[in-house]
Amino acid sequence: MKTYLIGITGASGSIYAVRLVEELLKRDIKIFLTATSNGKAVMKHETGLEFNEWSNGLKKQYTNLIIEEIDNLFSPAASGSYKMDGTIIIPCSMGTLGEISCGITKNLLTRAADVALKEKRELIIVPRETPLNAIHLENMLKLSKMGVSIIPAMPGFYHKPEALSDVINFVVGKILDYLKIQNNLFEKWGN
Ligand SMILES: Cc1cc2nc3c(=O)[nH]c(=O)nc-3n(C[C@H](O)[C@H](O)[C@H](O)COP(=O)(O)O)c2cc1C
Repeated sequence: MKTYLIGITGASGSIYAVRLVEELLKRDIKIFLTATSNGKAVMKHETGLEFNEWSNGLKKQYTNLIIEEIDNLFSPAASGSYKMDGTIIIPCSMGTLGEISCGITKNLLTRAADVALKEKRELIIVPRETPLNAIHLENMLKLSKMGVSIIPAMPGFYHKPEALSDVINFVVGKILDYLKIQNNLFEKWGN
């Protein structure tokens, strides 16, 4: 069974994480799910969802979901010896991006990202900020050069979205495509 840690930070766009988590869980992928305190607050502000209520609701449905406190550095996800396929940070704030690019690992999410880097495992970062300053760009370039997949929350419009869900599905579909997970979340160009 594939296993990923998914982390939600305080960047705008937790709705992308909600969609991604649902898609992965129904495909029997094991997920360690965590959120920063800012991630929980912005999620509540933008979607009305309480992270704990939402994730505990999913837990009742899916045994392949493990919910982790952000400061639980005793989690298996914090150790390189645990067989984890990768870490996905969605949405990723510029603050968390900066910590990862400097090797600062004060919470479970940044530690899991650091472990993914040292173990040469998949690390997918879905940054969201605009405009980007030179620090943001340099941090992304540095991580990209280390093999990190930077998949910005940057929806396209060539699939002619009609509803907000089409825009969300485009970004999540791109991540699933990247993970080589078959999906029809958006119409592929040329198909
Ligand atoms: C409503 C709201 C939206 C925000 N959107 C973004 C954003 O899109 N990108 C970003 O880097 N920070 C954004 N921030 C700021 C981050 O939440 C802030 O930098 C925070 O310290 C990030 O902490 P974390 O990485 O521990 O979650 C936003 C804050 C609020 C309150």
